[in-house]
Amino acid sequence: MFQPSIYQARRERLKKDLKSGLALFLGNNELGMNYAGNTYHFRQDSNFLYFFGLDKPGLAAVIDVDNDREIIFGDDLSIEDVVWMGAQPRLKTLAEQAGLREVLPSRRLSAFVKKARRAGQAVHFLPPYRHDNMLLLKDLLNIPVARQKSAASEALIRAVVAQRSYKSAEEVADMERAVNVTGAMHIAAMKAARAGQTEAELAGLVQGMAVSAGGNLSYPVILSVQGQILHNHYHGNTLQPGQMVLGDFGAETASHYAGDITRTFPVDRRFTPKQRAIYEIVLDAEVGAIASLKPGILYRDVHLAAARRIAEGLKTLGLMQGNLDEAVAQGAHALFFPHGLGHKIGLDVHDMEDLGEKYVGYSDAVTRSAQFGTAYLRLARALEPGFVLTVEPGIYFIPQLIDQWRRKNLFAEFINYQTVAKYRNFGGIRIEDNVLITEKSHRILGDPIPKTVAEVEALRG
Ligand code: GLY
Repeated sequence: MFQPSIYQARRERLKKDLKSGLALFLGNNELGMNYAGNTYHFRQDSNFLYFFGLDKPGLAAVIDVDNDREIIFGDDLSIEDVVWMGAQPRLKTLAEQAGLREVLPSRRLSAFVKKARRAGQAVHFLPPYRHDNMLLLKDLLNIPVARQKSAASEALIRAVVAQRSYKSAEEVADMERAVNVTGAMHIAAMKAARAGQTEAELAGLVQGMAVSAGGNLSYPVILSVQGQILHNHYHGNTLQPGQMVLGDFGAETASHYAGDITRTFPVDRRFTPKQRAIYEIVLDAEVGAIASLKPGILYRDVHLAAARRIAEGLKTLGLMQGNLDEAVAQGAHALFFPHGLGHKIGLDVHDMEDLGEKYVGYSDAVTRSAQFGTAYLRLARALEPGFVLTVEPGIYFIPQLIDQWRRKNLFAEFINYQTVAKYRNFGGIRIEDNVLITEKSHRILGDPIPKTVAEVEALRG
């Protein structure tokens, strides 16, 4: 946790921005995995962490703007709990660590919220994503579960996004720690990988490192020789000579700030010439995109410039052809690069995705494209100092997508399907770093993680 004054200042600013009403924050609870008592790893809600800091299940909080009150609702442990879980500080003591003085038992929350509603106070809440909290919201506010996302408070969403979007120095320091643990995980995987190993062996190695560092994974490990499957969580393949491993994984610190890095490396000691040629195109797009980052630039334009560089590289290999401005404008590059260039990152790996990308990655001036590929861009708006984001271009050969586009003869003017057929089983390459936007430019977070061909091959022995 940070100093209590940091949480106090965040809540003061929230009250100022919200102006009136009651802001209700529901923390996360333990969730049964296969029966109630055998729970998933507990992860606190990031908005709750940001404003109240407390990393415990079973809590809720209100900020009563009209009456200038801040209250944590929760329960101290019973003696039965202490027998199984050990003694814990009292909730009042924990609340003081977040600069709060008022604590009430959980059973009082419902009456408190209902009284506020009867008094005509607006109750602001954020879009829920866990079913237990949806049921609680239904009880508290009588809003059907299906309507809760649309009924969430735009004013509260905007007020939260207005703070969480800009990372303070202490948040950036924690994110550097997350990236450094993540970098060590990637280096270990690149050093350890051998033909004959399973993906699971490497996935277990890196997951163990995230836990050993005091935090956990920031999202489920993507580590696969089938790198063309963008979010591949299957780890059952055996590494074979001639293949590449795409590893997209990261650690979050004990304070829950995330790292999110991708590296791709050959199972053999060296890339094949074909692998190397595609790798260099992705690397050029990644390095070029990072070099262009500064306040004011639209991330959508950075995405499109990366798409253009990828298209240029693919043209030199005979995979694309024709007028590349037109090809990228029409979305032909998305056969090879079908996702967005990156997203904000912070307490969540896709930071504040629960609040809606419309508020987080877009703006009134920049709205989402409907075009396949660019439609998946999570961040498109103008960049500002304090934003932290990922840059993660890739080139993939997805057999099912190639077959579909070829059947429809889609973008035949721009895509050389005969050459594409020769790459059908190539897999995929993605390279990703985490970048802070500074007052005038940008800074890659963390210590450098090998990514040139020479650096990667040096790790492969
Ligand atoms: N690195 C996983 C993702 O960005 O979705």
